Amino acid sequence: MTLPSRVQLIDVGPRDGLQNEKQPVPAAVKIELVHRLQAAGLTEIEVTSFVSPKWVPQMADNAEVMNGIQRQAGVRYSVLTPNAQGFEAALKTRPDEIVVFGAASEAFSHKNINCSIAESIERFAPVVQAALAAGIAVRGAMSCTVACPYEGDVAPERVAYLAGLMKQIGVQRVDVADTIGAGTPLKVQKAIEATLPYFDVDHICGHFHDTYGQALANTLAALQMGVWNFQSSVAGLGGCPYAKGATGNVSTEDVVYMLHGMGIDTGIDLDKLVDAGAFISGFLGRPPNSNVAKAILNKRLG
Ligand code: HMG
Ligand code: MG
Repeated sequence: MTLPSRVQLIDVGPRDGLQNEKQPVPAAVKIELVHRLQAAGLTEIEVTSFVSPKWVPQMADNAEVMNGIQRQAGVRYSVLTPNAQGFEAALKTRPDEIVVFGAASEAFSHKNINCSIAESIERFAPVVQAALAAGIAVRGAMSCTVACPYEGDVAPERVAYLAGLMKQIGVQRVDVADTIGAGTPLKVQKAIEATLPYFDVDHICGHFHDTYGQALANTLAALQMGVWNFQSSVAGLGGCPYAKGATGNVSTEDVVYMLHGMGIDTGIDLDKLVDAGAFISGFLGRPPNSNVAKAILNKRLG
């Protein structure tokens, strides 16, 4: 078993995390969170999404947040774009990477983006072409690669089908997402296996929600297959508004602690990361949803 010696983390807290908050989070707080994440050593941050404000009101300040960030050299800022309208708006804010997001389950595709899988690919294709022509990188998020909140278990063949379509339209790398955190290690490995004919291991990111507490185990299972790009959310923020009951992504603090404990480099300063998580958790008025963050904060109290 050879594990990667270095892992690239993409913090999706400002987007996947905050999109699900009921209380308004001012743009200034989101901007401060991004600044704290980059100060902690994160070199990829999913900042916001250019989706319909009627569907996800919390992301309505997308342009304000993107334009308010003081960019740091070497940091990649990504945003979600579900269609041409979102892409046009995003383009003005100069993202380094855009994310088209589809689902391996038909029901989730309809609930989340109001169209079938095939229709979503038709929408994404011109967005992907335009982004690549503008020199912007393109990632494809694949939701429900293990289970769907509406359809239950999702077969690996469905994942393969979506991965093939993403490849066909020019997506450069994909996220294998366990949207509702129902996955367990062998199921997650099957979803990754189903993606591998279309994207090599360097172009697959693990995106695991932690609803059932399996996300770290799933991360390890993916690492064992050679996956070295992962998404996580500072303070374990979040969930998806169209996957009721699903909690946040695995916390970045938990992943960094595990990786560093295994001798795997992330370039992240765990103490500064815990500070970033404490900042946003303080604003939200609750403790961070991260065992590692809580342990470190308790230890600091002496
Ligand atoms: P629709 O209603 O079918 O869109 O929504 P439409 O094209 O018929 O347009 C209807 C209205 O929306 C029009 O406005 C458009 O202008 C507006 P009106 O004329 O009624 O005033 N509109 C937009 N406004 C701003 N930005 C846009 C945009 N597009 C249309 N881009 C749509 C289709 C895709 C827009 C909608 O379903 C939507 O916004 N969905 C996003 C849902 C979402 O953000 N979900 C969470 C992110 S995905 C996720 O969390 C999963 C992930 O983390 C991986 C995982 O864990 O699985 C990535
Ligand atoms: Mg997600």
